[in-house]
Amino acid sequence: MAVLSQQDNVKNTNGILPSKQMMQMITASWVSQSIYAAAKLGIADFLKDGPQTTEQLANAVGADAPSLYRLMRALASVGIFTEVREGCFGSTPLGECLQTDAPQSLRAMATMCGEEHYQAWGNIVHSIKTSECAFQDLYKTSFFKYLKQNTEAEQIFCEAMTNYATQAHISVAAAYDFSGINKIVDVAGGHGTLISSILKANPAMSGILFDIPEVIEGSKQSIKAAGLENRCELVAGDFFKSVPSGGDAYILSTVIHDWNDENSIAILKNCHEAMVENGKLLIVEMVIPSNNEPFFGKILDLTMLAIHGGLERTKAQYQDLFAAAGFKLTNVFPTKSPLSVIEGVRM
Ligand SMILES: C[S@@+](CC[C@H](N)C(=O)[O-])C[C@H]1O[C@@H](n2cnc3c(N)ncnc32)[C@H](O)[C@@H]1O
Repeated sequence: MAVLSQQDNVKNTNGILPSKQMMQMITASWVSQSIYAAAKLGIADFLKDGPQTTEQLANAVGADAPSLYRLMRALASVGIFTEVREGCFGSTPLGECLQTDAPQSLRAMATMCGEEHYQAWGNIVHSIKTSECAFQDLYKTSFFKYLKQNTEAEQIFCEAMTNYATQAHISVAAAYDFSGINKIVDVAGGHGTLISSILKANPAMSGILFDIPEVIEGSKQSIKAAGLENRCELVAGDFFKSVPSGGDAYILSTVIHDWNDENSIAILKNCHEAMVENGKLLIVEMVIPSNNEPFFGKILDLTMLAIHGGLERTKAQYQDLFAAAGFKLTNVFPTKSPLSVIEGVRM
């Protein structure tokens, strides 16, 4: 390829030619969409008991064998599967992450990112030019309204969030001192992995898991499986109307980043109104550092723009948001994950 010119002799600090590194970055979505295809077809599940020929796999997942071979060969070239003999593929530790029941499985995440998220990312220029949500522009509805009308997409979204968040939620429960809090309300808590981690780590506490009706329905099983039915009440509703009252802490984990400032302030004001006099607000998000360092939140920020019209924020932006909703930001507690707990009290 004739892309190399005067840069031929210039290498990055990692020893790679800039043009080569740039080409890898440009084509990274080819790899992620190949991972999506394998996740959607459930290939990793069929390799759990040992290697399979392409024909066996094609029969199992309903695919064209020669095309499936090309997918498997491409994914083996980046370490996701391995060709153990010609036309016969086995799994690898990377490939095992795509098994449906692997601990913290990423199958649902790969499926979600490869479908509507990918389409919306294709419209990212619209967002950059206008500040508008690329998903809304493309689908003529918001992401959460779309999920309400598409049961399969809604299930994949909840599964992706639950699986991805489990470790992060354990790290949140470990990083923040919840002593002194009797009743916590997990606002838009999804299937309840965070409130489960918190209640398990703090046996004297009780809580309320709050989300939209469809999600609360799906959370019944996980709260029961965690043995928390007696300490965790399930309440369905819309946080733009109200949130359950009487909690002495309101926790919102990866919720506020879905929304622009106007909507975020409306949600936080409802928490302000619902909490006890000296209640605490706990926002769990990635706080964007003010430097050039790589930080996952900086890329996630663009996904928030494209999918929800939301954003990841700096500490100063959280301070302003809190103040606009009647809170004072009191502390930021880092966790072992990229998430921090941003604590506020009523002003
Ligand atoms: C990104 S998920 C975060 C879920 C969970 N807190 C976690 O950390 O995994 C955002 C959540 O907001 C919920 N949600 C969206 N709109 C809502 C509304 N109007 N009222 C209540 N919950 C809502 C969604 O159902 C979803 O569970």
